Amino acid sequence: MKKFTSVSDVENLQEMIKKALQIKENPLSESEKGKGKTIGLVFLNSSLRTRLSSQIAAQNLGLNVLTLNAAQEAWNLEFADGSVMNGDTVEHIKDAIEVLNQYCDIIAVRCFAGMKNKQDDVHESILSQFEKHAKVPVVSLESATRHPLQSLADCITITENWKEKRKPKIVLTWAPHVKPIAQAVGNSFTEWMQEMEVDFIITNPKGYDLDKNFTKDVKVIHNQDEALENADFIYVKNWSSFEEYTAMPEVEENWMLTNEKLSKTNQAKVMHCLPVRRNVELSDEVMDGENSIIYQQAKNRIFSAQAVFSEILEVIN
Ligand code: CP
Repeated sequence: MKKFTSVSDVENLQEMIKKALQIKENPLSESEKGKGKTIGLVFLNSSLRTRLSSQIAAQNLGLNVLTLNAAQEAWNLEFADGSVMNGDTVEHIKDAIEVLNQYCDIIAVRCFAGMKNKQDDVHESILSQFEKHAKVPVVSLESATRHPLQSLADCITITENWKEKRKPKIVLTWAPHVKPIAQAVGNSFTEWMQEMEVDFIITNPKGYDLDKNFTKDVKVIHNQDEALENADFIYVKNWSSFEEYTAMPEVEENWMLTNEKLSKTNQAKVMHCLPVRRNVELSDEVMDGENSIIYQQAKNRIFSAQAVFSEILEVIN
């Protein structure tokens, strides 16, 4: 694997899931593989799970880990090409990446959607600079439109929790939130589910349809109760409007998942990438209930990252 920014970088998803599950059985099985190599984990945005799971994964492979919380600890970055830097920005992103090239064998970066300019976000204005200027493999730790390490962990978690021969019914449901949230997790989950042997649908209120470039032919139902019927897995996530970019059109019905809604499903397992706003996005009773596999999902972030770093080390070793 030469880079990891979306599902299209994975040659065989089932093999990748199998590899991650083998790593989970024996996390130190390749503890020398990254010896003498360095991964830079660059965070332009906040993180708990991605930061720590990536660090554990890299350490399990024997990699040296440099973590840069760029928003807090680095110089104020300039992203615009050709800009006259006579304002607040101190270092241009392309200089920062050239320097990271000198220190790192893999560069992993978190760069959320700016949520100000739709075209900048859709075209991944920051990740694309890393892809352009990095001379070493680039890994996305969540970008403007995708969260591939999360999605791989989600695929691992679904695989662990599904032993029947038939395809599971998986529902991605929109949930309420207090502020505009990017579509990256919803987009990414949608993209990865289309590569899995599952029956996948999305439910969200009118005005909240995800980008057609991600949903493609996936069925979108605007009635949550109808969508949840007989579900085997429910993936809960908020996102703001894509069409009216970052808007939060008013929603009259209550979309927060409760035990009553869950009772209409096939005892569905409940997933969420975290962090979650309790009793806004997801009720306490569901979050803490026996159907929740959310912490298992968070644990699998380690094995998702480790499988990806291991594949990349195959290429650079
Ligand atoms: N799910 C996830 O990516 O969590 P963090 O934002 O805490 O890394």
